[in-house]
Amino acid sequence: MLDWSELAGLRVIGRMAEMINQRWNLGVGFADERGQLIDTPTIQRYATDRPLCVLLRRTPEGRRRCDAVAQQMIEHHRAGGEKTGSACMTCHAGLFEPYVPVRMDGQFEGLLLAGGFLREEDREAQSEEVLARCADLSIPKGDLRRALERTPVLSAEGERMLQDLLELVVNEILIFREEVTRKERRLDRLTRELAERSEYGQLIGKSPAMRSLYRTLEKVAASASSVLILGENGTGKELVARALHFHSDRKDKPFIVQNCSAFNDNLLDSELFGHARGAFTGAVGTKKGLFEVADGGTFFLDEIGDMSPTLQVKLLRVLQEGTFIPVGSTQTRKVDVRIIAATNRDLKSMVEQGLYREDLYYRINVVTLSLPPLRDRLEDLPMLVDHFLARHGPESKIRLSSGCLDRMMDFNWPGNVRELENEIERLLVLQGDSEVIGEEFLSSRIRYEIYPGGAAPGGPREQAPSLPEAVERLERTMILDHLKRSRWNKTKAADSLGISRRNLIRKVQAFDLDRRKNR
Ligand SMILES: Nc1ncnc2c1ncn2[C@@H]1O[C@H](COP(=O)(O)OP(=O)(O)OP(=O)(O)O)[C@@H](O)[C@H]1O
Ligand SMILES: [Mg+2]
Repeated sequence: MLDWSELAGLRVIGRMAEMINQRWNLGVGFADERGQLIDTPTIQRYATDRPLCVLLRRTPEGRRRCDAVAQQMIEHHRAGGEKTGSACMTCHAGLFEPYVPVRMDGQFEGLLLAGGFLREEDREAQSEEVLARCADLSIPKGDLRRALERTPVLSAEGERMLQDLLELVVNEILIFREEVTRKERRLDRLTRELAERSEYGQLIGKSPAMRSLYRTLEKVAASASSVLILGENGTGKELVARALHFHSDRKDKPFIVQNCSAFNDNLLDSELFGHARGAFTGAVGTKKGLFEVADGGTFFLDEIGDMSPTLQVKLLRVLQEGTFIPVGSTQTRKVDVRIIAATNRDLKSMVEQGLYREDLYYRINVVTLSLPPLRDRLEDLPMLVDHFLARHGPESKIRLSSGCLDRMMDFNWPGNVRELENEIERLLVLQGDSEVIGEEFLSSRIRYEIYPGGAAPGGPREQAPSLPEAVERLERTMILDHLKRSRWNKTKAADSLGISRRNLIRKVQAFDLDRRKNR
């Protein structure tokens, strides 16, 4: 929709209206798509008081007829079909009124009009016509004649120039609108991009599951409470832990990560809590533990489910009292550390089975964040793809072909975002110089889904197949794919598969690849 009063404020329109005004003593007006004359103080500047019009509008019937003129122009314009460019009609009183319809994207938006003049070549006849048309308005004839004498008269050339000018104004309007629309679209895109990009740095996704995660992060980040992050492998547990730290008021203090399953128990003990000199063979000096290094900041304990019972007790004490004793020392240390723990194990059932300390479980589990697996937020896949392309790709923009993206969307992704990231890295290595990556570069398990008829995204997944099973499925899928592509021409299919026709026929029988069953 056009905002006429906004347009009326444009300098170029003002200049042209001024020219029309000065040269022919004519005013310029705007009517919207329903024929309503637009009346704002800015637009009034472009109108002129034409004596005849003033006179006619003094009578109620004259005003009614005058107001209906814009309406008639709309109808006139409609009758003229989809025409653009200027047109001319006579008003109720018989004066000439040129106008230009404004269409944007094929839609009629209104009219730009100017006029109320007599044509030089048949001024006499036209004046008589005006007098006849206005005879029933009970206006003294003498007044009408005097007004007619002061009505602008345009030569044929003047009329053509006037129409050219009006068309020019409409052109300006269209150019201006286009520019505004372009800017608005850009603004929309930027706003959308900003909304899509999460507040949380590297975390990508706008699926309902991710949005709900962001909302929880917002509430939890600022607090000092411990957080337990649950999620399958590669679902972003560490990313979330970082996001929590860097959105807390501890962000200028250390963020320390320790994987609890990577070490043997003694080493982990001294790594976490430090050790005194001579605490054990090889302990030549005193060593600060990571809990001390993390003082004031955040400690991310990854794979917390793998921690031994002894260390579970030590950790519990840090959580309860903020104190611990380094290995081989007698002195208690006090620290202020926020604990974020993560695991892909089912801690709750470990507690139930007596494999994990219940009191520790409740201490670290003040807030739980469960990260959605990729298969539950497939709508985020295109964004993640772009993100990884930008992260691992060259400066120039590289994208996936739509077929390639389709295949990726169809693939029954497990929970793992890292797996997707690896696939993109692989594609970037293989694609060479081309800007668009085609599906032929996809790894075969994605290209030829090895879980045919596998669970729908989010549904229960069948157990991962054994290697021979997977190979067989892949073989079957590839053969079917090539058969379909060669329209069941076995010679061609065997050719493109790189096997003999006899071999293909044997496999088709073995896999029961009947054409009628596999359309
Ligand atoms: N929501 C996400 N947005 C962007 N990248 C993500 C997201 N989730 C995971 N990733 C990417 O996937 C990879 C794995 O993430 P991260 O190491 O945080 O997962 P994790 O759950 O700790 O994995 P693991 O269980 O293997 O330790 C990272 O490279 C990360 O960039
Ligand atoms: Mg991790």
